[in-house]
Amino acid sequence: MNEEQRLSIGEVKPAIANKEEKDYSQYFQTVYEPPSLKKARRRGGEEVSYFDDFEIDERFKGMGNGRKFYIRTYGCQMNEHDTEVMAGIFSALGYEATTTVDDADVILLNTCAIRENAENKVFGELGHLKPLKQRNPELVIGVCGCMSQEESVVNKILQTYDQVDMIFGTHNIHRLPNILTEAYLSKEMVVEVWSKEGDIIENLPKVRHGDIKAWVNIMYGCDKFCTYCIVPYTRGKERSRRPEDIIQEVRHLAAQGYQEITLLGQNVNAYGKDFDDLNYRLADLMDDLRYIDIPRVRFTTSHPWDFEDELIEVLAKGGNLVEHIHLPVQSGSSSILKIMGRTYTRESYIELVEKIRKAIPDVALTTDIIVGFPNETDEQFEETLTLFEEMKFEMAFTYIYSPRDGTPAARMEDNIPMDVKKERLQRLNKVVNKYAAKAMDKYEGEIVEVLVEGESKKNDEVLSGYTRKNKLVNFKAPKSVIGKLVKVKVTVARTWSLNGEFLHVVEREEVMN
Ligand code: 5AD
Ligand code: SF4
Repeated sequence: MNEEQRLSIGEVKPAIANKEEKDYSQYFQTVYEPPSLKKARRRGGEEVSYFDDFEIDERFKGMGNGRKFYIRTYGCQMNEHDTEVMAGIFSALGYEATTTVDDADVILLNTCAIRENAENKVFGELGHLKPLKQRNPELVIGVCGCMSQEESVVNKILQTYDQVDMIFGTHNIHRLPNILTEAYLSKEMVVEVWSKEGDIIENLPKVRHGDIKAWVNIMYGCDKFCTYCIVPYTRGKERSRRPEDIIQEVRHLAAQGYQEITLLGQNVNAYGKDFDDLNYRLADLMDDLRYIDIPRVRFTTSHPWDFEDELIEVLAKGGNLVEHIHLPVQSGSSSILKIMGRTYTRESYIELVEKIRKAIPDVALTTDIIVGFPNETDEQFEETLTLFEEMKFEMAFTYIYSPRDGTPAARMEDNIPMDVKKERLQRLNKVVNKYAAKAMDKYEGEIVEVLVEGESKKNDEVLSGYTRKNKLVNFKAPKSVIGKLVKVKVTVARTWSLNGEFLHVVEREEVMN
């Protein structure tokens, strides 16, 4: 790894380093460079380095003995999975997990930068943590994840949140042992953020959340640069994991008894495009995963841009490939889509959906929508509503546009008042609810297959789980069926969940057919 890319601030207290008769200085960087969104925008110049030799250095082993860590995760599944990796590193260092901040020795906030309100939550939380730090100066508070990649955030934390001991970004999670050690030894806030295109690091330890469903990264980063989105700046360029590494991980999960995997990437449809020695794309990967003995395989999230016919053909084969596709449309207006830089039109999106529905007639389609993009007119917003009605999405995540510093859209003049945007969101959400309820109504009286995840959040007498199409189902059954696939007869359909009667556990032969 290029030494220049290791950026950090902080002065190692020699007294402590000497006390332990260890020289840690080679593990640290003394030159501080703030993260740079401009640098993070560059593409093509840097080689992707591939590392598969991660090991915890002998010097760091045991540093967590008698100490506890707590990680709070904000944002997407990618972040949740990064948290599993950091939990793995903490455990390998000897730390124990805790579920409350009050008895933690290290608190990490794994942050999300996608919208302003996500960022505000983190700043609020940092405020709440200040008294804890005042009571316990030994406590180490860290900020990582997407917000750390933004120079404005790092500057704000450096200036106003002196309760923070360390900041690191999305590219150097594997440096957690070094950064932590430096935070223990340093008087200053340790900042190590790499504004680079990104590497691939295999063999990182993981402590997965649960033993029923698992996330599997297939690629990192995004090169799409939709004009509103900060992700390409915070997560680096598109780079795919090698198929053999992914397949080995999935096989291992299957052997451990996991029932479902979700392939993760900012834009999984671009999988494999960056291989120059291999013609292997998402369709090939999904086709290979069909032969692994794991009942359900999902992927998220897709961009209509790279959604190829071969992938549709493979998904139509079914088996363990579920018939649910999350296909963010963002807007129903071709002119807004153009300014968003989405590279498809309303018409070409509809064509793609028609193709998918022809090949997979009972597919469940869900989407993401942004309302109130700069200067979106009433007519353009109406086009989003009519597209929704036409596509009959079964669920949608809906957002008010939030300007992100450094992105092209944030520099656009915007003459749409916030109350108009809020009203549009409400109108859209009414349509979303209507179609969500319609999609659920179809299930009344039907028998569905449910992967049982555990007790329902609202009532511990009731179990809950999800269907292949990701519908939440609640029913009464013995706790022994948790972690299994079961058949449930739906009795009541609500907008966001189904109630049903447990019938029986699905036999293994049934699962694989
Ligand atoms: N403002 C509002 N929503 C956004 N998203 C991404 N960037 C922004 C932004 N600046 C939404 C998109 C994306 C989802 C993950 O978040 O709909 O698909
Ligand atoms: Fe953001 Fe667009 Fe990349 Fe999705 S495809 S992460 S919306 S830039």
